[in-house]
Amino acid sequence: MKQLRLALLGFGTVGQWLAEALHTRQAWLQQEFGLVVTLISVATAHHGLIYRGDGLDIPTLLDLVATRQPLTAHPKVTHWTNVLEGLQSTGGDILAEATGATIRNGEPGLSYIRAALALGMHVVTSSKGPVALAGRDLLALARAQGFQLRMESTVMSGTPVLSTIREGMAGTRIRAIRGLLNGTVNSILSAMALGQSYTEALAQAQAQGYAEADPTDDVEGDDAVAKTLILAAVAFDRTLAPEHVVRRGITSLTRKQVQQADALGKRIKHVASLRLLSLDGTEVSRATADQDITHTRLEARVEPIALPLSDPLARIDGLLNAIVIQTDTPAEVTVIGPGAGRFQAGQGVLADLIAIAKSS
Ligand SMILES: NC(=O)c1ccc[n+]([C@@H]2O[C@H](COP(=O)([O-])OP(=O)(O)OC[C@H]3O[C@@H](n4cnc5c(N)ncnc54)[C@H](OP(=O)(O)O)[C@@H]3O)[C@@H](O)[C@H]2O)c1
Repeated sequence: MKQLRLALLGFGTVGQWLAEALHTRQAWLQQEFGLVVTLISVATAHHGLIYRGDGLDIPTLLDLVATRQPLTAHPKVTHWTNVLEGLQSTGGDILAEATGATIRNGEPGLSYIRAALALGMHVVTSSKGPVALAGRDLLALARAQGFQLRMESTVMSGTPVLSTIREGMAGTRIRAIRGLLNGTVNSILSAMALGQSYTEALAQAQAQGYAEADPTDDVEGDDAVAKTLILAAVAFDRTLAPEHVVRRGITSLTRKQVQQADALGKRIKHVASLRLLSLDGTEVSRATADQDITHTRLEARVEPIALPLSDPLARIDGLLNAIVIQTDTPAEVTVIGPGAGRFQAGQGVLADLIAIAKSS
């Protein structure tokens, strides 16, 4: 039986879903994967970190949150107001990081992930910020320490894209990736394709709860840029900064432009793309990709593009996300699935946790 002591930082939507899943699927995890997970610490911004060496009781934690009581009311816990100090004092085998880390500086997740790797813990994270800004460095640090860092939920939530690239497509040389990585933007563009203006489509998305009151991160492409940076690290082992990504949002798209594309048999989609190019800017041939990728650069773009209907991305509508991965063999793989939602994000973290348990 594999025993894992889990530290969970962030007990909001994703953290609570994960804890509940670990509790309700306890017997099945043991039976199917020979895995016993003991939740030894939980942290939030308001309550700091609580620790109990023989395991926290998950129903009690969920009940405390539901009744708006402090987590410190859990019996027999040790408490740290400073979460980082608490983590450093209590450790564990694996950190699940699910705080609301920002894309601006990756914090607080970045410090938590670095601390956990330094402590000799495996890490799974659902926070885009840390891995968008420092994904390659963190992956290298984890490798050097002999531990794993996984981040399935950060791109297309729990739809298995990163594990498809890392495990399912291991051994192939990826030459390009194109994707629709933001469900809010895709739902707005889908509504515009049906005749709405940008303003109408955004208002509808906000009314339905798909778009934030301030939708800037989505509609200006910041969110898709962050996911593009994560893909650059995972699929191409390259570090890109946000300013390396050519970025155009969808705010200036007009109904007329969408209709004109439609008349030409095309659909306007907000496409995130990564493409290996030779240093002279030409496409990397299959042979070059196979032999020598040192003399290549990675082009990264997030922009509205009119796609022909024959393109697999052209017909992905609403909140769905999709990604097309182009390799030497097989030529092209498309993954389609939801890109947001608490179940999906929590499932991505759970899948990462099980993957680590199976291979460590
Ligand atoms: N929800 C989704 O559909 C989804 C999908 C994919 C990825 N993600 C990512 O997953 C992460 C978590 O998302 P969520 O929806 O669970 O967010 P959330 O509901 O806002 O929960 C965030 C949790 O992190 C805690 N936290 C914030 N700052 C902290 C700090 N400095 N130290 C310790 N804990 C801290 C918060 O504490 P308080 O409760 O005290 O504020 C809260 O418990 C985010 O990075 C999000 O972008 C979410």
